[in-house]
Amino acid sequence: MKTFPSTKSDATINVRDGRRRKVVAEAISLSKHFGQIRALQSASFTLSEGEVLAVVGANGAGKSTLLKILAGVYPPDGGTLRVNGEEVTSFSAPESRGRGIEMVYQDLDDVPNMDAVYNLFVGRPIRKWGIFADYKSMIAKTREVLTGLGVATVQDVTQPVETMSGGQRQALAIARAVTWGSGIIILDEPTAALGILETERVLRLIGDLKGKRASILLVTHNLEHVFRVADQILVMYQGRSIAQMQRQDTNLAKLAAAIVSGAH
Ligand SMILES: Nc1ncnc2c1ncn2[C@@H]1O[C@H](COP(=O)(O)OP(=O)(O)OP(=O)(O)O)[C@@H](O)[C@H]1O
Ligand SMILES: [Mg+2]
Repeated sequence: MKTFPSTKSDATINVRDGRRRKVVAEAISLSKHFGQIRALQSASFTLSEGEVLAVVGANGAGKSTLLKILAGVYPPDGGTLRVNGEEVTSFSAPESRGRGIEMVYQDLDDVPNMDAVYNLFVGRPIRKWGIFADYKSMIAKTREVLTGLGVATVQDVTQPVETMSGGQRQALAIARAVTWGSGIIILDEPTAALGILETERVLRLIGDLKGKRASILLVTHNLEHVFRVADQILVMYQGRSIAQMQRQDTNLAKLAAAIVSGAH
Protein backbone atom coordinates (compact mmCIF):
# COMPACT_ATOMS: atom_id res chain seq x y z
CA MET A 1 0.00 0.00 0.00
CA LYS A 2 1.40 3.41 -0.93
CA THR A 3 1.57 5.94 1.89
CA PHE A 4 2.21 9.66 1.94
CA PRO A 5 3.58 11.80 4.75
CA SER A 6 0.81 12.90 7.12
CA THR A 7 -0.24 16.50 7.67
CA LYS A 8 -3.15 17.63 9.77
CA SER A 9 -5.18 20.79 9.39
CA ASP A 10 -8.57 22.02 10.54
CA ALA A 11 -11.54 21.36 8.29
CA THR A 12 -12.03 24.23 5.89
CA ILE A 13 -15.23 26.22 6.02
CA ASN A 14 -16.89 27.13 2.75
CA VAL A 15 -18.91 30.33 2.81
CA ARG A 16 -21.60 30.42 0.14
CA ASP A 17 -25.01 32.10 -0.01
CA GLY A 18 -24.18 33.56 3.41
CA ARG A 19 -24.05 30.05 4.86
CA ARG A 20 -21.02 28.40 6.38
CA ARG A 21 -20.51 24.84 5.29
CA LYS A 22 -17.95 22.42 6.56
CA VAL A 23 -15.84 20.91 3.81
CA VAL A 24 -15.89 17.15 4.41
CA ALA A 25 -13.72 16.13 1.46
CA GLU A 26 -11.35 18.01 -0.77
CA ALA A 27 -9.37 16.65 -3.69
CA ILE A 28 -6.60 18.68 -5.26
CA SER A 29 -5.10 17.64 -8.60
CA LEU A 30 -5.42 13.91 -8.06
CA SER A 31 -3.84 11.78 -10.77
CA LYS A 32 -3.82 8.06 -11.45
CA HIS A 33 -2.24 5.84 -14.08
CA PHE A 34 -2.87 2.19 -14.79
CA GLY A 35 0.22 1.16 -16.74
CA GLN A 36 0.11 3.23 -19.92
CA ILE A 37 -3.45 4.40 -19.29
CA ARG A 38 -3.89 7.83 -17.77
CA ALA A 39 -7.20 7.37 -16.00
CA LEU A 40 -6.96 10.64 -14.06
CA GLN A 41 -4.75 13.56 -15.03
CA SER A 42 -5.82 16.23 -12.61
CA ALA A 43 -9.04 16.01 -10.68
CA SER A 44 -10.13 18.38 -7.95
CA PHE A 45 -13.38 18.84 -6.05
CA THR A 46 -14.80 20.15 -2.82
CA LEU A 47 -17.59 18.32 -1.02
CA SER A 48 -19.44 20.19 1.71
CA GLU A 49 -21.46 18.73 4.55
CA GLY A 50 -25.07 17.96 3.75
CA GLU A 51 -24.64 18.55 0.02
CA VAL A 52 -25.01 16.40 -3.07
CA LEU A 53 -22.17 16.72 -5.55
CA ALA A 54 -23.10 15.15 -8.88
CA VAL A 55 -20.15 13.92 -10.94
CA VAL A 56 -20.80 13.90 -14.66
CA GLY A 57 -18.73 13.12 -17.73
CA ALA A 58 -18.52 10.83 -20.73
CA ASN A 59 -17.64 7.15 -20.48
CA GLY A 60 -14.00 6.81 -19.48
CA ALA A 61 -13.75 10.40 -18.17
CA GLY A 62 -12.33 9.15 -14.87
CA LYS A 63 -15.38 9.45 -12.59
CA SER A 64 -15.21 5.99 -11.04
CA THR A 65 -11.42 6.17 -10.69
CA LEU A 66 -11.68 9.46 -8.81
CA LEU A 67 -14.30 8.18 -6.41
CA LYS A 68 -12.53 4.86 -5.86
CA ILE A 69 -9.53 6.83 -4.58
CA LEU A 70 -11.83 8.47 -2.01
CA ALA A 71 -13.21 5.03 -1.11
CA GLY A 72 -9.67 3.74 -0.60
CA VAL A 73 -9.72 1.21 -3.43
CA TYR A 74 -6.36 2.50 -4.61
CA PRO A 75 -4.01 5.40 -3.86
CA PRO A 76 -3.52 8.29 -6.28
CA ASP A 77 -0.17 8.72 -8.04
CA GLY A 78 -0.16 12.39 -7.17
CA GLY A 79 -2.24 15.17 -5.69
CA THR A 80 -3.80 15.64 -2.29
CA LEU A 81 -6.95 14.29 -0.68
CA ARG A 82 -8.30 15.66 2.59
CA VAL A 83 -11.18 14.16 4.52
CA ASN A 84 -12.57 16.22 7.39
CA GLY A 85 -9.57 18.49 7.16
CA GLU A 86 -7.06 15.71 7.50
CA GLU A 87 -4.80 14.71 4.64
CA VAL A 88 -5.26 11.09 3.66
CA THR A 89 -1.89 9.40 3.62
CA SER A 90 -2.83 5.75 3.62
CA PHE A 91 -5.40 4.34 1.22
CA SER A 92 -7.46 1.22 1.89
CA ALA A 93 -11.17 0.44 1.86
CA PRO A 94 -11.30 -0.39 5.61
CA GLU A 95 -9.56 2.88 6.49
CA SER A 96 -11.93 4.78 4.25
CA ARG A 97 -14.92 3.11 5.97
CA GLY A 98 -13.35 4.09 9.26
CA ARG A 99 -13.59 7.70 8.08
CA GLY A 100 -17.34 7.22 7.58
CA ILE A 101 -17.15 6.76 3.79
CA GLU A 102 -19.25 4.12 2.02
CA MET A 103 -19.36 3.50 -1.72
CA VAL A 104 -21.85 1.78 -3.98
CA TYR A 105 -19.74 0.51 -6.85
CA GLN A 106 -20.84 0.66 -10.46
CA ASP A 107 -19.63 -2.94 -10.81
CA LEU A 108 -21.16 -4.40 -7.68
CA ASP A 109 -18.74 -5.80 -5.14
CA ASP A 110 -21.13 -8.13 -3.33
CA VAL A 111 -20.32 -11.76 -2.56
CA PRO A 112 -22.49 -13.58 -5.15
CA ASN A 113 -22.83 -16.95 -3.44
CA MET A 114 -23.78 -15.45 -0.07
CA ASP A 115 -27.21 -14.14 0.89
CA ALA A 116 -28.50 -10.58 1.29
CA VAL A 117 -28.12 -10.76 5.06
CA TYR A 118 -24.44 -11.69 4.79
CA ASN A 119 -23.82 -9.00 2.20
CA LEU A 120 -25.53 -6.29 4.23
CA PHE A 121 -23.68 -7.10 7.43
CA VAL A 122 -20.37 -8.41 6.07
CA GLY A 123 -17.71 -7.77 8.70
CA ARG A 124 -20.16 -5.97 11.00
CA PRO A 125 -22.72 -8.47 12.34
CA ILE A 126 -25.33 -7.64 14.94
CA ARG A 127 -24.21 -9.46 18.09
CA LYS A 128 -26.25 -11.00 20.86
CA TRP A 129 -24.75 -10.51 24.33
CA GLY A 130 -21.74 -9.08 22.51
CA ILE A 131 -20.68 -12.52 21.31
CA PHE A 132 -22.99 -14.46 18.97
CA ALA A 133 -24.06 -13.23 15.56
CA ASP A 134 -27.78 -12.52 15.95
CA TYR A 135 -28.95 -13.89 12.60
CA LYS A 136 -32.65 -13.40 13.37
CA SER A 137 -32.20 -9.67 14.01
CA MET A 138 -30.04 -9.39 10.90
CA ILE A 139 -32.74 -11.03 8.75
CA ALA A 140 -35.34 -8.61 10.13
CA LYS A 141 -33.07 -5.60 9.54
CA THR A 142 -32.30 -6.73 5.98
CA ARG A 143 -36.02 -6.99 5.19
CA GLU A 144 -36.60 -3.59 6.76
CA VAL A 145 -33.91 -1.76 4.77
CA LEU A 146 -34.92 -3.37 1.47
CA THR A 147 -38.57 -2.53 2.05
CA GLY A 148 -37.51 1.03 2.94
CA LEU A 149 -35.95 1.25 -0.52
CA GLY A 150 -39.15 0.01 -2.09
CA VAL A 151 -37.64 -3.37 -2.89
CA ALA A 152 -40.20 -5.56 -1.20
CA THR A 153 -39.97 -8.06 -4.05
CA VAL A 154 -37.05 -9.96 -2.52
CA GLN A 155 -38.99 -12.94 -1.25
CA ASP A 156 -36.15 -14.61 0.56
CA VAL A 157 -33.29 -12.55 2.00
CA THR A 158 -31.43 -15.80 2.69
CA GLN A 159 -31.13 -16.73 -0.99
CA PRO A 160 -27.68 -16.20 -2.60
CA VAL A 161 -27.56 -12.68 -4.07
CA GLU A 162 -26.52 -14.13 -7.45
CA THR A 163 -30.08 -15.44 -7.71
CA MET A 164 -31.57 -11.97 -7.08
CA SER A 165 -32.42 -9.65 -9.97
CA GLY A 166 -29.89 -6.99 -11.05
CA GLY A 167 -32.03 -4.20 -9.60
CA GLN A 168 -32.57 -6.03 -6.32
CA ARG A 169 -28.81 -6.49 -6.00
CA GLN A 170 -28.17 -2.84 -6.73
CA ALA A 171 -30.77 -1.84 -4.13
CA LEU A 172 -29.04 -4.08 -1.60
CA ALA A 173 -25.72 -2.34 -2.29
CA ILE A 174 -27.38 1.04 -1.74
CA ALA A 175 -28.98 -0.28 1.45
CA ARG A 176 -25.57 -1.33 2.71
CA ALA A 177 -24.02 2.06 2.01
CA VAL A 178 -26.80 4.00 3.72
CA THR A 179 -26.88 1.60 6.68
CA TRP A 180 -23.18 2.03 7.40
CA GLY A 181 -22.15 5.34 5.87
CA SER A 182 -21.92 7.98 8.54
CA GLY A 183 -20.49 10.92 6.66
CA ILE A 184 -19.86 10.53 2.96
CA ILE A 185 -21.85 8.26 0.68
CA ILE A 186 -20.58 7.63 -2.83
CA LEU A 187 -23.13 6.36 -5.33
CA ASP A 188 -21.62 5.35 -8.68
CA GLU A 189 -24.54 5.11 -11.12
CA PRO A 190 -26.83 3.74 -8.39
CA THR A 191 -30.00 3.69 -10.47
CA ALA A 192 -28.55 2.15 -13.64
CA ALA A 193 -30.33 -1.19 -13.10
CA LEU A 194 -33.37 0.11 -11.26
CA GLY A 195 -36.99 0.36 -12.38
CA ILE A 196 -38.96 3.61 -12.36
CA LEU A 197 -40.40 3.15 -8.88
CA GLU A 198 -37.11 2.06 -7.32
CA THR A 199 -35.26 4.93 -9.03
CA GLU A 200 -37.72 7.40 -7.51
CA ARG A 201 -37.14 5.88 -4.08
CA VAL A 202 -33.38 6.24 -4.45
CA LEU A 203 -33.69 9.87 -5.54
CA ARG A 204 -35.92 10.52 -2.53
CA LEU A 205 -33.51 8.64 -0.30
CA ILE A 206 -30.73 10.97 -1.46
CA GLY A 207 -32.87 13.90 -0.29
CA ASP A 208 -33.47 12.19 3.07
CA LEU A 209 -29.76 11.53 3.55
CA LYS A 210 -28.99 15.17 2.85
CA GLY A 211 -31.50 16.11 5.52
CA LYS A 212 -29.49 13.97 7.91
CA ARG A 213 -26.37 15.98 6.96
CA ALA A 214 -24.78 13.17 4.97
CA SER A 215 -22.68 14.35 2.05
CA ILE A 216 -23.23 12.54 -1.20
CA LEU A 217 -21.19 12.05 -4.34
CA LEU A 218 -23.46 10.86 -7.10
CA VAL A 219 -22.22 9.67 -10.48
CA THR A 220 -24.94 9.59 -13.08
CA HIS A 221 -25.40 9.97 -16.82
CA ASN A 222 -28.99 11.09 -16.22
CA LEU A 223 -28.88 14.89 -16.31
CA GLU A 224 -32.51 15.14 -15.26
CA HIS A 225 -31.54 13.41 -12.02
CA VAL A 226 -28.58 15.80 -11.67
CA PHE A 227 -30.84 18.85 -11.79
CA ARG A 228 -33.29 17.23 -9.39
CA VAL A 229 -30.94 16.30 -6.58
CA ALA A 230 -27.55 18.00 -6.96
CA ASP A 231 -26.39 21.11 -5.11
CA GLN A 232 -23.07 21.14 -6.93
CA ILE A 233 -21.94 19.59 -10.21
CA LEU A 234 -18.45 18.40 -11.09
CA VAL A 235 -17.73 17.95 -14.78
CA MET A 236 -15.03 15.46 -15.71
CA TYR A 237 -13.47 15.39 -19.18
CA GLN A 238 -10.68 13.04 -20.25
CA GLY A 239 -9.32 12.54 -16.75
CA ARG A 240 -9.61 16.18 -15.72
CA SER A 241 -12.13 18.00 -13.62
CA ILE A 242 -12.97 20.92 -15.86
CA ALA A 243 -15.53 22.65 -13.63
CA GLN A 244 -17.31 22.50 -10.32
CA MET A 245 -20.37 24.67 -10.24
CA GLN A 246 -23.55 25.27 -8.37
CA ARG A 247 -26.61 23.75 -9.98
CA GLN A 248 -28.29 27.13 -10.42
CA ASP A 249 -25.29 28.45 -12.35
CA THR A 250 -25.78 26.08 -15.27
CA ASN A 251 -28.52 24.49 -17.34
CA LEU A 252 -29.11 21.29 -19.23
CA ALA A 253 -27.77 22.54 -22.57
CA LYS A 254 -24.61 24.08 -21.09
CA LEU A 255 -23.93 21.01 -19.00
CA ALA A 256 -24.42 18.62 -21.93
CA ALA A 257 -22.05 20.75 -24.03
CA ALA A 258 -19.40 20.73 -21.28
CA ILE A 259 -19.61 16.95 -20.97
CA VAL A 260 -19.25 16.39 -24.70
CA SER A 261 -16.69 19.05 -25.64
CA GLY A 262 -14.84 19.77 -22.42
CA ALA A 263 -15.67 23.48 -22.83
CA HIS A 264 -17.45 25.35 -20.04
N1 LIG B 1 -8.20 -0.90 -13.10
C1 LIG B 1 -7.98 -0.33 -14.27
N2 LIG B 1 -7.00 -0.76 -15.08
C2 LIG B 1 -6.75 -0.17 -16.28
N3 LIG B 1 -7.43 0.88 -16.75
C3 LIG B 1 -8.41 1.37 -15.98
C4 LIG B 1 -8.74 0.80 -14.71
N4 LIG B 1 -9.78 1.51 -14.19
C5 LIG B 1 -10.07 2.45 -15.08
N5 LIG B 1 -9.26 2.38 -16.17
C6 LIG B 1 -9.28 3.26 -17.33
O1 LIG B 1 -9.31 4.59 -16.87
C7 LIG B 1 -10.18 5.39 -17.65
C8 LIG B 1 -11.23 6.02 -16.74
O2 LIG B 1 -12.09 4.98 -16.29
P1 LIG B 1 -13.28 5.23 -15.28
O3 LIG B 1 -13.84 3.90 -14.95
O4 LIG B 1 -12.80 6.06 -14.17
O5 LIG B 1 -14.28 6.07 -16.18
P2 LIG B 1 -15.78 6.55 -15.89
O6 LIG B 1 -15.81 8.03 -16.05
O7 LIG B 1 -16.22 5.99 -14.59
O8 LIG B 1 -16.59 5.89 -17.11
P3 LIG B 1 -18.08 5.25 -17.17
O9 LIG B 1 -19.04 6.39 -17.33
O10 LIG B 1 -18.03 4.41 -18.41
O11 LIG B 1 -18.31 4.45 -15.94
C9 LIG B 1 -10.74 4.48 -18.73
O12 LIG B 1 -9.99 4.67 -19.90
C10 LIG B 1 -10.53 3.10 -18.17
O13 LIG B 1 -10.34 2.16 -19.18
MG1 LIG C 1 -17.67 4.66 -14.03
